[in-house]
Amino acid sequence: MTISASNPSEFSRAGISALGIKLPSLALPVLELARLRGVDPEKYTVGLGCQTMGLCAPGQGVVELAAEAARRALGHWRGDRSRIGLIAVGSESALDMSRPLSAFVAEALGLSGAIRSYEVKHACYGGTLALRQAAEWIRSGAARGRAALVIAADVALYAPEDPGEPTQGGGAVAMIVDSEARIAEVALDSYAFSEPAFDFWRPVGEKYPRVDGRFSLECYQKAAEACFRQAYGEARPEDLERLAALAFHVPFPKMVKKTLQHLGARLAWSEAETAAFYAAKVEPTMSLNRLVGNAYTASLWLSVADTLRGRAEGEKIAAFSYGSGYGAELFELAAGPAARQGAWAVEVEADLATRREISGEEYLAMRRTVPALAG
Ligand code: HMG
Repeated sequence: MTISASNPSEFSRAGISALGIKLPSLALPVLELARLRGVDPEKYTVGLGCQTMGLCAPGQGVVELAAEAARRALGHWRGDRSRIGLIAVGSESALDMSRPLSAFVAEALGLSGAIRSYEVKHACYGGTLALRQAAEWIRSGAARGRAALVIAADVALYAPEDPGEPTQGGGAVAMIVDSEARIAEVALDSYAFSEPAFDFWRPVGEKYPRVDGRFSLECYQKAAEACFRQAYGEARPEDLERLAALAFHVPFPKMVKKTLQHLGARLAWSEAETAAFYAAKVEPTMSLNRLVGNAYTASLWLSVADTLRGRAEGEKIAAFSYGSGYGAELFELAAGPAARQGAWAVEVEADLATRREISGEEYLAMRRTVPALAG
């Protein structure tokens, strides 16, 4: 197709036009991990709010998850593949220091040509950065009518017996970002906050992240408060009634609950107000995350996708992205006409229905032998 120079105002709208999700093919209930590690199961289920970890099967890894999510998103998209002018993969599961994950995905999908292709890294925030860049590329007019394929994909593993082990997970969310925002318009206004820190990091050549667990919780909460105050000032719960939901990056569900309690306390909401807001607007956004675990860059986007599903056009949700190191951003999305149908959910349900639950012993064996689980 010929792409002509266009009036930027034509592209003042940008958002998610199609969505595809791929979940790992194995599942380990945290109760099984607790048995294996000799830990009180309530520490994982109540203390952290975790339920099940999504784990890769042999032969499955970040590229397979990302490529399948992208295939699904392209399958749901009404546009022509020749309009894809940008492929950006946000991930912290890079395979190579030079070759971007986007090249592996493009190769798997047979996408090449006049396409800007790259990987975005900022811990769990990378997928959001890729999405924001794509939306801004479209809004600026630089896209000249083309669309972007944005993928957030990760396999989240900690060293065996690390306190982070029950929070493991994985998954990929692919989004076609276009001026026709059929699933959700992405707001231009966005509120970022960053502060260099070593809360969670993975030095080159090391298999697993190093984590300063308690400090990471403080960083997350500080970032959430800073973004929230920029976006909403001293808002009270009634001021946020216009939001259908507030979705967070979900390293583990209790983190999100504690963060809302922190926000409520700092904004002088009563405990009852905070609890009611959490129950109505936040807790329901984490259903899918509980089944999958922390999928790093994909975590927020699994939550956003699940929250958008079934929404009436125009309903607004806020999304808070956090990545260690650390950087964060808060912005709103407005449901588009195709959100109600939620076409991507059919594949999510199929993935959940067909994934195989493994025992603790199988998990231990796989951690020794399967590359994607061996780190
Ligand atoms: P830990 O040291 O094992 O846990 O690690 P703990 O002893 O602090 O206990 C956790 C909670 O369970 C506590 O509740 C306990 O009281 C409770 P809290 O006081 O916090 O409310 N508990 C129990 N509850 C019921 N029954 C029991 C019981 N025992 C204890 N029997 C930690 C916890 C989160 C530090 C660990 O899992 C970890 O290091 N995780 C990884 C880091 C992480 O997820 N940080 C979150 C913020 S940073 C982030 O989100 C970025 C990230 O996604 C990476 C990226 O950006 O790329 C991680």
